[in-house]
Amino acid sequence: MRIGVLGTGTVGRTIATKLRELGHDVRVGSRSTGDDAVPFPDAVLVDVTLPLDFSQGRPPRLFVFNDDSLGEQIQRAFPETRVVKTLNTVNASVMVDPIPGTNVFVCGNEEEAKAQVGELLQGFGWPADAIIDLGDLSSARGTEMYLPLWIRLMGTLGTARFNIAVVQ
Ligand SMILES: NC(=O)c1ccc[n+]([C@@H]2O[C@H](COP(=O)([O-])OP(=O)(O)OC[C@H]3O[C@@H](n4cnc5c(N)ncnc54)[C@H](OP(=O)(O)O)[C@@H]3O)[C@@H](O)[C@H]2O)c1
Repeated sequence: MRIGVLGTGTVGRTIATKLRELGHDVRVGSRSTGDDAVPFPDAVLVDVTLPLDFSQGRPPRLFVFNDDSLGEQIQRAFPETRVVKTLNTVNASVMVDPIPGTNVFVCGNEEEAKAQVGELLQGFGWPADAIIDLGDLSSARGTEMYLPLWIRLMGTLGTARFNIAVVQ
């Protein structure tokens, strides 16, 4: 698969490395290189972002919440691109090396796009039954607003390598 990774920080490097290991044709874009990896019509844009605001120190606050999400903002900015929110509830290392028995969420307006992202997630090691489809992209609000609890858990557990398991 041809995949563009936007961002060369922790997540961008982690995901690009994993995708290359899996044999994908990966191109990485950063604002400094002027590389051309921006989304194009009909592409699936996998959004892993969190609306972190460090302007008032730590822990960060959310700068989008309740009745909007970064996922929805990205979708509005690229209306012809199919945005799927996922992986934002786990640390970068967990994204590509899942903790057995835990879950990951997908949010998006198009079933086919979510199915494609599901295949990508399975390539990362997420079992099919660990991937929970939360519905349309407005469900990204909940996954983004999980951040304050995630930060507290990290402090309590003393590690970022943890995840939640949903049981019924
Ligand atoms: N780290 C994690 O474990 C984790 C987990 C879940 C979700 N996330 C989310 O994933 C995203 C990336 O996280 P990260 O840890 O990789 O962050 P990071 O290490 O700070 O890297 C951020 C990347 O985004 C680029 N960037 C920032 N602002 C930009 C702008 N206005 N225009 C263009 N490029 C910009 C940076 O480019 P420059 O180098 O040029 O500044 C850098 O390549 C964030 O939204 C974060 O909240 C991270």
